[in-house]
Amino acid sequence: MDLLLRRARILDPASDFDQEADLSVRDGVVAAVGAGLDAPTGAREVDCSGLLLTPGLIDIHAHVREPGEEYKEDIASASAAAVAGGFTTVCTMPNTKPPNDRRAVTELILRRASEVALCRIQPIGAISVGLEGEALTEVGDLKDAGCVAISDDGRPVMNASIMRRALEYARGFGMPVIQHAEDLSLSGDGAMNEGAVATRAGLRGQPTQAEEAMVARDLTLVELTGARYHVAHVSSAGTIRLVREAKARGLSVTCEVTPHHLVLTDEACAGYDTCTKVSPPLRSRDDRMELRAALRDGTIDCIATDHAPHSSIEKDVEFDYAAFGMTGLETALGLVLKLVDDGELDLRRAVEALTSGPAAVLGLPGGTLREGAPADITVIDLNEKWQVEASAMRSRSQNSPFVGWQLGGRAVLTLVGGQVVFDPRKMVTE
Ligand code: DOR
Repeated sequence: MDLLLRRARILDPASDFDQEADLSVRDGVVAAVGAGLDAPTGAREVDCSGLLLTPGLIDIHAHVREPGEEYKEDIASASAAAVAGGFTTVCTMPNTKPPNDRRAVTELILRRASEVALCRIQPIGAISVGLEGEALTEVGDLKDAGCVAISDDGRPVMNASIMRRALEYARGFGMPVIQHAEDLSLSGDGAMNEGAVATRAGLRGQPTQAEEAMVARDLTLVELTGARYHVAHVSSAGTIRLVREAKARGLSVTCEVTPHHLVLTDEACAGYDTCTKVSPPLRSRDDRMELRAALRDGTIDCIATDHAPHSSIEKDVEFDYAAFGMTGLETALGLVLKLVDDGELDLRRAVEALTSGPAAVLGLPGGTLREGAPADITVIDLNEKWQVEASAMRSRSQNSPFVGWQLGGRAVLTLVGGQVVFDPRKMVTE
């Protein structure tokens, strides 16, 4: 169905466009953007007055759990959560069971994604076979099968020589390498950030140096190999310093931050809510302040959810024994808009960090509303106040510390390739 979305505030940072206008969709692509457009013949007109229209949001970091842990999440439930959260593209991390360390798993993920047909799924392949950090995967084969990057996320590549080889091979295939930066000999069995809050709570801590030491090591290897390197979920001021300096020296390095590291601090762990147990851990106020500043100034390239669903089996246990991770696809936009409301981030930068920013990091299509671009579109009501409710989540897991929070701003219409995939207000569908 062709569409004419009328009178929205259209905000497309990639094409430096921010004004009230119309957008027409023909044959799944953006046909035109401008004021007072004529409706293409047969197009359905949709009144978007008072709403914000942006490129479809892109999440380059989600744990979708299929194959192998479908009791936590599968491609269907994650896709439903994604489009309800305004995301039109989701990159899936390879720590499934079995891991996405070979073509057959990549192909399975892509086949399931096309059956579900809600959002675009872009798989990330493993760096090492079995995520064991020893033997490299067939990077070229993974790329050929459809992987857009490689990562052992959930675990770091501890062995420097393996990391060097991974960077060398990935460079040859034009694949970015995403590191879960954590020196395990420093993080040990820490359950949260090391510091006064952990001491008071009686929990073992992980120092920020566990992340920083790994990033520092990797940057020397990036210098050696000239590869494309991306740091997942940066959490500390020290990491920001390292990335900023590496960028200034011209290294091909990018990084992402999660909404939870931007919004929460380690104080959230003081009540032993296992939903606040994430890897890397929530850090101090000073770290959070630096992450926000680095997102504003572009040292941080994009926001990524690190959506990590777990069931009550993994979470309804003592803090020490709980799995790391929280869900994020359905709360990311609302949390980022909260930062905008709080004056911590401007709206244009927020949208950029959720659209063209992540697209550029992994070289993905989309992230813009330029004419001819795929009609992946998110329409947002900035004025909708809503409460995060576990029972309303599409994700199969509800391990979110944001349950009960009041947020302002929410996706009200999501289109992927011009197809309506989320339309709770029945703006387009009857
Ligand atoms: O909190 C996390 N959970 N961080 C990770 O890096 C992995 C993820 C998971 O797979 O649960």
